[in-house]
This record gives sequence, C-alpha cells and structure tokens, in this order.
Amino acid sequence: MRRKVIAGNWKMNMLPNEAINFIDELAPIVKDTKHEVILCVPYTDLFYALLNVQETNIKIGAQNMHWEENGAYTGEVSGKMLKSIGVEYVIIGHSERRQYFAETDETVNKKIKSALAVELKPIVCVGETLEQRESGVTEQIITEQIEKAFEGISATELEKIIIAYEPIWAIGTGKTATKEDANTTIMQIRKKLAEMYGQNEANGVIIQYGGSVKSSNAKELFEMSDIDGGLVGGASLKAEEFSKIVNFDI
Ligand code: PGA
Repeated sequence: MRRKVIAGNWKMNMLPNEAINFIDELAPIVKDTKHEVILCVPYTDLFYALLNVQETNIKIGAQNMHWEENGAYTGEVSGKMLKSIGVEYVIIGHSERRQYFAETDETVNKKIKSALAVELKPIVCVGETLEQRESGVTEQIITEQIEKAFEGISATELEKIIIAYEPIWAIGTGKTATKEDANTTIMQIRKKLAEMYGQNEANGVIIQYGGSVKSSNAKELFEMSDIDGGLVGGASLKAEEFSKIVNFDI
C-alpha cells in the first residue's frame, strides 16, 4: 500500500512570523495523521520553519533550486545549500516556474539529478494546458514530460521521488479535475513509469494530484486508486483549512 503525502505549496506568500504562527497552529491539529505532511515554503521562511517543526510530524521543503552546487549564478540557491540547513524536499518543475522562469524538461532533469545527489527528495511537477487537454493530447504531453524529466534516473533513485500531476488549467482557478480524470491521467503516468522501470517500481511511486485541492474535494480525490495525496497551493495558506485536507479521512 502506498502512503498518502499531502504537501502545501505556499508559493510567494508568508513572512517568517506568519510561517511560525502557521506551524504553531497546524502542528497540534495534524499530529495524529498517518499521512505524510510537508510544507514547501519560500527560501526566507525555511530556517524559521525548520526550527519550528522540530518535534512535530511536519516536514519542510523548498519550492525550487539550482542544479549546480555553487558558482556565479546570482540570486540562485543550490540543493546543497538547502540540504545544509536540513531541508528534506524540493519542488521541481512547477508549472509556474516553467511558464514564468523558462524552466524546461531539460532543466527539470538536471535539477532532479542534482537534488538526488545531495539526498534532497524531489517533488516533480507535470501537467497539461487546457488547450492540450481539449485537443486530446494529455497522455502524450504528460508521458513526454515524464520521459525527459527522468532520463538517466535509476530505479533506486525513482523510489525517492514524488510526482505531482497538476493540470495547469486547474491551478489557482478553482477548477478541479474530476476525480476520474485525475485518476486516469495518474494511471497513464504509472503506465509510462512501468514501461521505463517495470510494473513493481511504478506501483511504488507516490503520485499526487494538484490543482484547486481544498477541504471540500480532498476526500473524493485522495480516495481514488492511484491518487496518493495532493500538492496544495491556495488552500495550504490557512492552517485550519490545510489541516482538514491532511485529515481528509478522519
Ligand atoms: P492551487 O495550486 O491549489 O492553488 O490550485 C496548486 C499548485 O500550484 O501546486
């Protein structure tokens, strides 16, 4: 049985004092969950968040990283730097980074390799646009993204990676994919991984759904056969709402 992983993606929100207050409020209300709880916070919140989640079941992730360990890359932060302060997860290839910051399947691939090299666990995002969904090419787009992102990644490395299927048209729009559509696309991702790595390996991979997940739809989504939790944006900014998503089955 795969575990469920519920990750918040705060995007460019929350000052350190807000992050600290959020964690103080969240920790007691998610302490009994059997699911994994992750908060992916802005760089400036990482250190405060890491200190404040000690002795809780909440884990901390970053939202991006550079693939080089160090060097002349003004403004960038490396995986090695994240690891050095105790960060455990890192989102790679979020659609907003692909859209606004020229991230490609190739940079995603480099970042995954670099994250794994310093034992950071990547949360790799894939997803189609509305136009692609409407023209019936979702499976082709998604499997291409998977193929390129995972080029040169071994089966042992695959075990450390979480995939987030996030249809771009569902992100921040209030439009959620139907649970059937989300599950079908995630099954297609698993089928592709089975071709690349074998069925057993593919069956073990955690694949989340993301895109307007909220407390009112989390249960129906997360109870589907292939949806192993969620990557949650807007609804992860309020501790009580996020706790209801984490506690979807209580
Ligand atoms: P949303 O964002 O939940 O606000 O749609 C999800 C994401 O971008 O990861």
